[in-house]
Amino acid sequence: MTLWLPAIIAFLLGSIPFGLLIAKSKGINIREHGSGNIGATNVLRVVGKKYGITCFFLDFLKGLVPAMLGITLVRFSSQNNPMELTFLSDWATTLPDTEQTKVQIIQVITGLCAVLGHNYSPWVGFKGGKGIATSAGVLTAFMPAALILLIPIWAAVFFTTKYVSLASIVAALSLPILTHWGARFHHVNGDKTQPTLWEAGTWNKPLFFFATFIALMAVWKHRANIKRLLAGTENRFGSKKN
Ligand code: G3P
Repeated sequence: MTLWLPAIIAFLLGSIPFGLLIAKSKGINIREHGSGNIGATNVLRVVGKKYGITCFFLDFLKGLVPAMLGITLVRFSSQNNPMELTFLSDWATTLPDTEQTKVQIIQVITGLCAVLGHNYSPWVGFKGGKGIATSAGVLTAFMPAALILLIPIWAAVFFTTKYVSLASIVAALSLPILTHWGARFHHVNGDKTQPTLWEAGTWNKPLFFFATFIALMAVWKHRANIKRLLAGTENRFGSKKN
């Protein structure tokens, strides 16, 4: 049970609709304004800059805190109570049967639960946000190097086009490519005479699955934005009509 705890906490924390609550505290129903989304971008657009930034950090923490908790508990359990790890092995029998893989799976499930909680929050009729800030929180815990590469990608698209949605979509789609690229080009122990992580089969498959899943989910959650982008009616950051 202990190892499932971060995943349960992740979903519950992830499901707190901070954007909706922040806007409500100012007497605004965020659903009826701007894009109607409960995320930081729409809070900034509708309620104001400091509220948007606050919303971003709270949504970010919803991913970071449970992911860090997951990592810590998994480490603690594997050192002190190996039985906890075998508990999950029934479920993981179809995957390479190494303890490391199970640890990675538990971490990835925790991260996914945080993003799923945000995107499909039961408190708002399963119509939550788009998961960008919460995913960034999870990535800070799991793959900080990938996040460091994603920030300039996001910024380049945003500052060129002024579309937050397009920047988020491009950054999301870059994530699995970056994790794939990392495994293809990183040699075991950083030694070029050794095979790459991909060739050696030691790349983190659950993390690659996680990256691909949250990228596809982010694109799916941005489908209304994609339609507006194609129609030329998407909200441009800073535009008066917002
Ligand atoms: O993270 C959400 C952002 O990419 C788009 O937000 O309000 O323009 O749909 P919004």
